[in-house]
Amino acid sequence: MKKEAIAFRAVTTILSGEIVLKDISFSLPEGERLVILGPSGCGKTTILRLICGFLTPVKGSISIFGQVVSKDGKCLVPTEKRGLSMVFQDLALWPHMSVWENLDFVLKAKGLLQKRRKNEIKKMLELVGLLPFKDRRPHELSGGQQQRVALARALVVRPRLLLLDEPFSSLHKALKMELCSELLAFQERYGFSMIHVTHDEEEARVLASVPFLSLS
Ligand SMILES: Nc1ncnc2c1ncn2[C@@H]1O[C@H](COP(=O)(O)OP(=O)(O)OP(=O)(O)O)[C@@H](O)[C@H]1O
Ligand SMILES: [Mg+2]
Repeated sequence: MKKEAIAFRAVTTILSGEIVLKDISFSLPEGERLVILGPSGCGKTTILRLICGFLTPVKGSISIFGQVVSKDGKCLVPTEKRGLSMVFQDLALWPHMSVWENLDFVLKAKGLLQKRRKNEIKKMLELVGLLPFKDRRPHELSGGQQQRVALARALVVRPRLLLLDEPFSSLHKALKMELCSELLAFQERYGFSMIHVTHDEEEARVLASVPFLSLS
């Protein structure tokens, strides 16, 4: 049987005194792609922040690849030890850094030596078609190119779990579908587990490999 990449068990989260998630349980088998759907404000980003370790649930437990990372108000494993990458809703590219430097920064933080960093970044930028743009800053790129940089920066560290928070929501349909296909190709190539948040049902159908998690 496949290992669980993620398991939420009766997770409850309170933010500023309000219950945002109540008794949420779900799991994702290793190597699969889960899509989270639901209206604005239902707690989709909150779920990703809990998995990252930016938030800790007041009740319940969260496991990543069989290891309990948070339980009953306690964070047991810090973000940097969770083996994951996240693409944020607003992308969060560093505006003062070039495309190359955005990727280099995360590899430096992982302690990779310069030669290895250079190889990995070159390979990744080639894969997403951005090598010719390596010296540009994010504001010198189109929306779709910025999306690709965010994806490349998340993938260059070879995460075992990738979290995506509506990364394609600002794009028109054709480009959205093109990026979905690229993402699927990456996922098949590297075999990471994935959680994708979206409002778009077509995007959800294309990307999901297990039944949706629908929040209300
Ligand atoms: N730091 C916070 N303090 C207080 N309330 C918060 C905080 N962060 C989020 N919330 C509230 O928690 C609820 C869930 O927020 P969340 O960002 O998870 O929604 P979402 O499903 O991602 O919405 P959207 O589709 O608009 O991105 C919302 O009601 C939001 O106002
Ligand atoms: Mg959100």
